[in-house]
Amino acid sequence: MTSLICRVALLVICLGLAAARPIAAQAPASPSEWDHSLGLPTVTDLNPDPRVLEINLTAQIASVEYAPGKRVDAWTYNGGLPGPLIRLTVGDRLIVHFTNRLPTGTTVHWHGLRVPIQMDGVPGASQPDVAPGGSFTYDFVVPDAGLFWYHPHVMAAEQVGFGLYGAFLVDDPSFQPRIEEHVIVLSDIDVLDSGALAPSDTGASTGMAFGREGNVVLVNGRHRPHVRVPSGMPQRWRIVNAAKSRYYELNAGSRKAFTKIGSDGGLQEFAEEIENLLLVPGERMDVFFTPTEAPGSEIDLISRLFDRGYGSTEARQPETLLTMTTTPSSTTAAIPLPTVTRTIEPLSQAGATPIAIEFGVVQNQLDKTFLYTINGKSLEKVPAVPAVVGETQIWTVTNSTPWSHPLHIHGFFFQVLDKSGQPVRPMQWKDTVSVPFKDSLKVIVRFDDRPGSWMYHCHILDHAEGGLMSSILLTRPGEPPPPAPAPEHTHNAGPLREK
Ligand code: C2O
Ligand code: CU
Repeated sequence: MTSLICRVALLVICLGLAAARPIAAQAPASPSEWDHSLGLPTVTDLNPDPRVLEINLTAQIASVEYAPGKRVDAWTYNGGLPGPLIRLTVGDRLIVHFTNRLPTGTTVHWHGLRVPIQMDGVPGASQPDVAPGGSFTYDFVVPDAGLFWYHPHVMAAEQVGFGLYGAFLVDDPSFQPRIEEHVIVLSDIDVLDSGALAPSDTGASTGMAFGREGNVVLVNGRHRPHVRVPSGMPQRWRIVNAAKSRYYELNAGSRKAFTKIGSDGGLQEFAEEIENLLLVPGERMDVFFTPTEAPGSEIDLISRLFDRGYGSTEARQPETLLTMTTTPSSTTAAIPLPTVTRTIEPLSQAGATPIAIEFGVVQNQLDKTFLYTINGKSLEKVPAVPAVVGETQIWTVTNSTPWSHPLHIHGFFFQVLDKSGQPVRPMQWKDTVSVPFKDSLKVIVRFDDRPGSWMYHCHILDHAEGGLMSSILLTRPGEPPPPAPAPEHTHNAGPLREK
């Protein structure tokens, strides 16, 4: 029994004081206005089975209002920016009838979800890309609780940059604190003076090398929104960074405003008090936030200047993302937060295969263009990392470039190791982590029985398309690799290929 408990990484929730004084009883007469002004679009469930969520999802260009009176034609899912929140409970089945009404091919990738390879949304590895006017049905069970997200995997720098992303929340029935909860999608868009979206190739190769950031920061598709929040009432924020390049280091006042309880793959080993909360592109955070300021105060949620390499802090300013005004709440007593603990076993390093990955960048001396490299090669010239089902690998990722790179591995969670090879505490499951510039990072990953070609890449999507992308070829012992799907459609150079 004990070993089973360890194996399933049983979630242990100690409600402590909170159990004696239920938080529900403290709920304010009027909850905050957040849902009213910043709620995400929702989906319609077409399936009567309570354990099946069946939805229509259409990629289409639509006019969206990102600030009062300011509209832009964005690339959207179901006409909204961001796309609808897809929300289900762990173990549920999702069926998505996806239609492409964009002028170009696309797919949907379910970032962080441990789906079968056929559902991973990568052309050439999972499915042909969905042509304009075409459709595809995604159908899978959600195996893990946590906040995930979805986005295209075709020309992703352009398509994500133009607005194609949405949040994907998988609820954990064993952890439902009665706290007001908000899903927060951080992103940015690049809007020209004309009011149109800037082309995805601005700044040419130099823009690619840095990673293009938009000039309008968005919180749930709104630029610098205002919300009213009850003073003293804790909120739970589930945050995803869906920007194609921008790092967000969040701050909400000088005190340690955030209690971080989880990240990419659900809850973490124990909570941490955090003053500045970093989310790199693709990454998620699960935090409690309590506006302790007296009623009538304003709290700015800002994104601090964060050094992700050359050009990221020079002559730039922090960004205000959101302004909260505190309102009186029905209680004056401090509300205890639920204690969160989760047992996550460190992956065994016995027999693990060492894998060396080096991110580099080269500049062509003739035309001065940049090209990113993995172990000295670029994109499809990089040999796949071979792996067999059941194998554990320890990746040492060295970044010799002057920019940081958020490493993302499809389909599998990893644990981050420190320089001495010990797991970083609190233990947590990750699928995206920043490898700082001129530095290195180790991660340990174990491959379960889902053979196929799984991408890994930098989640600064310009960098991925500029060379920092390759794959892991996962096979069953003694079996050949599974065939790539529909070869007549896979004439394209790579999964995130350029036009
Ligand atoms: Cu967010 Cu290749 O993925
Ligand atoms: Cu990068």
